[in-house]
Amino acid sequence: MIEINEFDKIIAANWKLNCSLDFLKHYFNKINSNDIKPGVCGIISPPLVYIQNCSLHLKSSSLFLGAQDCSLYNKGAYTGENSASMLKDNNCQFCIVGHSERRQIFGETSKDVKKKAENLINQGINPIICVGETLAEKNAGSTKNILYEQLSNSLPEKSSSNSIIIAYEPIWAIGSGLVPSLEEINDIHSYIKSDINKFKNYKILYGGSVKSSNVKEILNLENVDGVLVGGASLDPIEFTKILNAC
Ligand code: 13P
Repeated sequence: MIEINEFDKIIAANWKLNCSLDFLKHYFNKINSNDIKPGVCGIISPPLVYIQNCSLHLKSSSLFLGAQDCSLYNKGAYTGENSASMLKDNNCQFCIVGHSERRQIFGETSKDVKKKAENLINQGINPIICVGETLAEKNAGSTKNILYEQLSNSLPEKSSSNSIIIAYEPIWAIGSGLVPSLEEINDIHSYIKSDINKFKNYKILYGGSVKSSNVKEILNLENVDGVLVGGASLDPIEFTKILNAC
């Protein structure tokens, strides 16, 4: 398992359901991760069927390999699933769990997220656990309550700041071009770190419409330890800029 506390900043790409062999050829010709500063952890999370292909490409780079989800189950009659041990066999070092798209579209609960994170930790893979509020919840003033509930129920008992990364992704900011103000981002991250005392030392990433043009000011915030990037990570030039923004 990678010791998260060794890093100052974490820059993770989530490609979601976007990839092809042509895409990979183009991407790895163009991305330049050689200039990443020491202390920065760069992660690429492709769709799972391309994980081996990416793993070969990443051999000569300083980027780590991540998955976007893993099964609740470890083995057996669960058609279509991929277990944490299978991710391990395929060189995955990180795995996103509890992304809002999984929670909203696939009905994943915080209890499921916790079990998946446990499975990952048991295999020595670092979970990136996502939390975030809807626009209606934000407008109702319940963001902090929602985050408290999601965090309390999604993190395994044996989690530590060295094994688990938290990603705060306001659902209304994902893919929308909308970003909370810098004060709002810092306030939420500070709430997770200071008010929910047990997460004091955790690395907390911000995600939602991060681009090369806004990443620097977000990364400069005191309580932001990195970013989780969707759309902008699909462009290798753009993602190279984001990796080098620290
Ligand atoms: P966008 O960067 O496309 O808004 O997506 C964020 C996200 O969901 C990363 O997990």
